[in-house]
Amino acid sequence: MNRAVVPGTFDPVTSGHLDIIERAAALFDEVVVGVALSDKKNGGPLFTPEERVALLEGATQHLGNVTVRPFDTLLVDFAEEVGASVAVKGLRAVTDFEREFQMAALNWRLDAKIETMFIMAVPEYMYLSSSAVKEIARHGGSVRGLVPDEVCDALEQKLL
Ligand code: PNS
Repeated sequence: MNRAVVPGTFDPVTSGHLDIIERAAALFDEVVVGVALSDKKNGGPLFTPEERVALLEGATQHLGNVTVRPFDTLLVDFAEEVGASVAVKGLRAVTDFEREFQMAALNWRLDAKIETMFIMAVPEYMYLSSSAVKEIARHGGSVRGLVPDEVCDALEQKLL
């Protein structure tokens, strides 16, 4: 059984994340989406861990081999815990590279049994991020198509 984790903060899940999850689900027998709880970026996440997990579960319900789990440990420990040997990351513009390169190297140093694998973002989502989505939504812009429909509604509710 080939199992992979797709980790992230997912605050909230975007169409770009979903594309990476779908492509990982086509490559592996099972995919566990790991929702990191402890992110303190930009004053902390907009959505609670429970909300982020629920939005991801909604967005991935068409994928029979995908489950969603929160985690608050090192990624390599989470991967070991769920029995995954690969961590799949999406790679967008070159700006992602430095940070992802560092994380891949450190994760390799922490546990070389966990392989990091990158899937290139499709051009349509190359510049899409959760932060940009929140900024557009905060200023009243439309994010339809950039996030799953359920996330659009959740953003409207949250930012009313
Ligand atoms: O969506 P993000 O914010 O780019 O995801 C970052 C994430 C959650 C993958 C990263 O912060 C992570 O792996 N966190 C778990 C803690 C950990 O293992 N840190 C060491 C990696 S060098």
